[in-house]
Amino acid sequence: MRVLAVSGSLRHDSYNTQLLRIAEELAPPGVEVELYDGLRDVPPYDADDDTELAHAGARDFREQLAAADAVLFATPEYNASIPGQLKNALDWASRPFKTNVLRNKPVAVVGATTGAYGAVWAQAELRKVLGTIGARVVPAEVAVAHAHERFDEAGELLDDEIRAGLAEVLRELIGAAQPVVVAA
Ligand SMILES: Cc1cc2nc3c(=O)[nH]c(=O)nc-3n(C[C@H](O)[C@H](O)[C@H](O)COP(=O)(O)O)c2cc1C
Repeated sequence: MRVLAVSGSLRHDSYNTQLLRIAEELAPPGVEVELYDGLRDVPPYDADDDTELAHAGARDFREQLAAADAVLFATPEYNASIPGQLKNALDWASRPFKTNVLRNKPVAVVGATTGAYGAVWAQAELRKVLGTIGARVVPAEVAVAHAHERFDEAGELLDDEIRAGLAEVLRELIGAAQPVVVAA
């Protein structure tokens, strides 16, 4: 099973990207968590460009989402919402609306900020956007507040509760992506 991990931050030392790296380490056997590194290359959404020949960056995002069994998002909070680059990429992913690559796709959202509330507003916004697009949003969540105090200089998590929360989010996400077996 392949879980695509999408960070809403483009920052090199992003705490959100670091959370996803830790999710990579927590993945159980048979599950590959793969960090998406193309967000910066997704151009501003323009419906006139949204054709068969859509920009390579937008196409790549759609293709990576389509190839994943599930998607794990980690978002910072920018001015009480999600970063523009993440919203923009999701606007590309949402078209064509009825058959978009996120429709019925299991997704989960976690978030980190240096502020006191762990990006809870941004996470709520992101869940709303993903639900509107048609993704299946799992309820488990992790909100990392004061992120600068939760990691050491090497990027290791200092907080076991957060690690356990991340493992739980991953477990729920993987569970939602398992095919349903119907008894004969
Ligand atoms: C433009 C901008 C707006 C921000 N707005 C908020 C905010 O509304 N609430 C909050 O808790 N933190 C806010 N922050 C702080 C970020 O959440 C913090 O820098 C976080 O570490 C960024 O995530 P990253 O480490 O993954 O890059 C803002 C930061 C920036 C750059």
